Amino acid sequence: MVTLAVLGTQWGDEGKGKFVDFLAEKAKAVVRFQGGDNAGHTVKIGADEFKLHLLPSGILRKGKTAIIGNGVIVNPEVLIGEIDNLKKRGIDCSGLRISDRAHLIMPYHTMLDGAEEQLKAGKHIGTTGRGIGPCYSDKISRLGIRVCDLMDGAVFREKLSFAVMVKKRIFAAYGIEEELDEERIFEEYSSYWKKLKPYVCDTVEVLERLRARKSRILFEGAQGTLLDIDYGTYPFVTSSNTIAGNAATGSGTPPGDIDRILGIAKAYTTRVGSGPFPTEMPEREAVSLAKAGGEFGTTTGRMRRCGWLDLVVVSHSVRLSGIDSIALTKMDVLGQVNRIKICDSYKLDGKKIVHFPASIEALERCRPVYSEFESWGEISQSTIRKMKSNGRRSLPAEIREYIGHIEKLLGIPVSAISFGKERDKTAMLRKIWPLSLIHISEPTRPY
Ligand code: GDP
Ligand code: IMO
Ligand code: MG
Repeated sequence: MVTLAVLGTQWGDEGKGKFVDFLAEKAKAVVRFQGGDNAGHTVKIGADEFKLHLLPSGILRKGKTAIIGNGVIVNPEVLIGEIDNLKKRGIDCSGLRISDRAHLIMPYHTMLDGAEEQLKAGKHIGTTGRGIGPCYSDKISRLGIRVCDLMDGAVFREKLSFAVMVKKRIFAAYGIEEELDEERIFEEYSSYWKKLKPYVCDTVEVLERLRARKSRILFEGAQGTLLDIDYGTYPFVTSSNTIAGNAATGSGTPPGDIDRILGIAKAYTTRVGSGPFPTEMPEREAVSLAKAGGEFGTTTGRMRRCGWLDLVVVSHSVRLSGIDSIALTKMDVLGQVNRIKICDSYKLDGKKIVHFPASIEALERCRPVYSEFESWGEISQSTIRKMKSNGRRSLPAEIREYIGHIEKLLGIPVSAISFGKERDKTAMLRKIWPLSLIHISEPTRPY
């Protein structure tokens, strides 16, 4: 296998950063293909913790190519800040490649994000405030400014002038009092270009060359399936496709060249921002789990809402992305809970359903149906070590039961479990990467 996509199967923050870093050891390149600096991927290496928003997590390992694909929207100020910060911490960023087709987040996008949230008073999404929705809207409306537009001052000026003219009218209609200073934006973005220029290229070509050499490539998803613009809890979603199909579109990789998909699932569920959440816990339990799991947003610092693992949600992801296997994170945190639940199905207006409904009004009426499990308590490093060498045979009975239930309902294996932020707290139960191109198992999903 030469390529593997790592995707979030819930509402984001599943631990994608941790797994991408873990798997990147054996990769040549790591590619971000959607989202922007709304993402917050945390990687712990020894005593050091890195919080990445735009840079692919592979940047932290020496000698890797780290690609920001065309499907990503780039806030150049944030990106430069991230590069400078990593350089100060001794990380070599020379492997970074930024797509010349990626769209730019402009100052008016972040301003509009805030204004639109205010207008939605009472029904606000709880966005990260990074201008994500307005920037992707401009891309689709063909009003966007792309990285390649910065190459030529005259081209950039023309596109900026037009966009600013349009935005001024929108600002007036929205009652936004802040001034849009075209000249200042022009100067600022021209100076960003000088810093980013060495990294900018046609990343489609870079990827093509890597594939031709059979180099191993990881695709790093941001957010999660339930935040997908088409398949998530619309409108309480982000503004990009987060599922596997976009790993192709967002990077210029032919779909058939994405060999395997790994779904990352937290052993429980969290969500940041507004929107329905069927397995959400009552406040007291949620706060206690959030504290135990350090569930505070990497990007916004907000406390994440907490609930039980929801297999209707994860199977929605498995189906949409063709996920081959699951990596379960935060097993150490869930082990601190006495009696553990998994949601197997919903009751909707008295009927059992196992498919995630399109309508959020219907979802609000869904009641989770749970199975219960014994806790496995604290897992020592020596048990993790045994799991690493002996695989499933060393799993405590309670964990075997928990994982067995998940595998039975999803019809795919749990290939890895994680008991902490650190690399050495990860046990691979199956070899998923690198692997030759034979099928791991035929899906036997009961759903
Ligand atoms: P991402 O957005 O999917 O990359 O996830 P985040 O980095 O936003 O949030 C996941 C958080 O959980 C980070 O702080 C990780 O360091 C941490 N984490 C990942 N796996 C584990 C685990 O197995 N146990 C614990 N305790 N923390 C973990
Ligand atoms: P990672 O990659 C969790 C959520 C926001 C909000 C909604 C829309 O770290 O998993 P946006 O700013 O994208 O317009 O906000 O999506 N959201 C995330 N939640 N993890 C993320 O990224 C998220 N990125 C966006 O909280 O509810
Ligand atoms: Mg995150």
